[in-house]
Amino acid sequence: MAYLSELASAAADVRIYPEDEIGRPDLSAIAEEFDGIADIYCCGPEPLLSAIEAAFDGRSNAIHVERFRPKPRTFAPNTAFQVECLRSGERLEVAESDSVLDVLARNGMGVVGGCREGVCGTCRLRVVDGQPEHRDEINDDAQYFYPCVSRSFSQTLVVDV
Ligand code: FES
Repeated sequence: MAYLSELASAAADVRIYPEDEIGRPDLSAIAEEFDGIADIYCCGPEPLLSAIEAAFDGRSNAIHVERFRPKPRTFAPNTAFQVECLRSGERLEVAESDSVLDVLARNGMGVVGGCREGVCGTCRLRVVDGQPEHRDEINDDAQYFYPCVSRSFSQTLVVDV
């Protein structure tokens, strides 16, 4: 709402749905209207994001959501593995209780973290070899990995750091 005038002057096809004036938007109707013809970008509270994902479920639109908190999910218990740093060749042990991000930081690899919950994307690394276990909430190319929360299915994960 802070950018209403800028949005109005930038694009003629902007629609605003102020909930306090007109209620919640009919997401099913919006999904029907834009079925397969638009990518969907959304951030906001979890109920809105979940409702949009449900409305577009089964459609071919690419959905891009930005969560402020991860969705509750359960994973298999952590296991230890090694991270190999492509540029230095160093192999580092990641214990069950460690995150890859913390191990890299302790060893001076200079990977920056933000949320540490797998939602902000700050710690993104490219995986060169191995099978990452993606525990983040970021829909991204599978070759990227978020070491604050993600782990490894393979004994060794080679990352571009
Ligand atoms: S620190 Fe935010 S995704 Fe890793």
